[in-house]
Amino acid sequence: MLDEAVDALLGADNAPPAGVAPARTYVDATFGRGGHSRMILSRLSAQDRLVAFDRDPAAVACAAQIADPRFSIRHQGFGQLGQLGESVAAGILLDLGVSSPQIDDPARGFSFRFNGPLDMRMDTSSGQSVAQWLANAQATQIAEVIRDYGEERFAGAIAKAIVARRQERGPISTTAELAQLVADTVKTREPGQNPATRTFQAFRIFINAELEALQTVLAASINVLQPNGKLVVISFHSLEDRIVKQFIAGHSREQYDRRTPFAPPKPMRLRAVARLRPGAAEVAANPRARSAIMRVAQRTGVGA
Ligand SMILES: C[S@@+](CC[C@H](N)C(=O)[O-])C[C@H]1O[C@@H](n2cnc3c(N)ncnc32)[C@H](O)[C@@H]1O
Repeated sequence: MLDEAVDALLGADNAPPAGVAPARTYVDATFGRGGHSRMILSRLSAQDRLVAFDRDPAAVACAAQIADPRFSIRHQGFGQLGQLGESVAAGILLDLGVSSPQIDDPARGFSFRFNGPLDMRMDTSSGQSVAQWLANAQATQIAEVIRDYGEERFAGAIAKAIVARRQERGPISTTAELAQLVADTVKTREPGQNPATRTFQAFRIFINAELEALQTVLAASINVLQPNGKLVVISFHSLEDRIVKQFIAGHSREQYDRRTPFAPPKPMRLRAVARLRPGAAEVAANPRARSAIMRVAQRTGVGA
């Protein structure tokens, strides 16, 4: 959904939204390998700017190859978006989740398809790896993570098996060990799915605090966007999409404060513009796109 996302962000005709100053600032909050950023830059004018974020040092190193004075990259979580200031951005793009280079690098530990260290951190320069966390976590916490972020019915059994294995043979340190343990514990298979899919998704979301970061960036986006600016969010699983959908819906109506029933409502600050799924051709070319949902919203003209 490269073209669709950039069209939604910039407008199909590249015209700035009404009321947005001619020299525009756009934000690519998830640089990855810069597919979206490069296309945005190819369509911006000489006065415009593109500010990108990524918390992965490998993505930031890749961004250093873009020698364009209109472009800058920040090695920061997109939860820091608010630092850009108020009413500064004509559009913000979030292409959530992990990038293909992250998944396909065995050393990053994101995939059960390759053996590697059980890491899964997007920002390899800070925080705990999944292996470090699992070495000490309680079975109840592990089960909660697998249930809440993986929507896995066998969460309790997998958590118990992880702790039992830790006590018998030491902690799990590789992706292959985790995948095997889950396969040995989960007796029914979902068609076409590795039994460890849900557990890997859950640990990745947890260790990167992905849903918390999403809540933070969405809340900040309202202030960072200029009136009439665009918010474009591509999500890859229902937990993310639910948060995005509820956020847009919640700000697309006047909000009453129940504690002060006679106070005037807060004005609506967003307008839902579109919801798109990838076409059959894109899914055929890139099976990972099959669960993608893109939502587009526009900041209302109301400044508050
Ligand atoms: C799906 S990829 C983006 C691909 C990108 N649109 C492209 O065209 O190459 C998601 C990227 O967002 C980054 N990311 C995920 N969560 C982040 C966060 N909270 N803060 C900053 N970057 C994040 C990941 O490190 C990854 O590089």
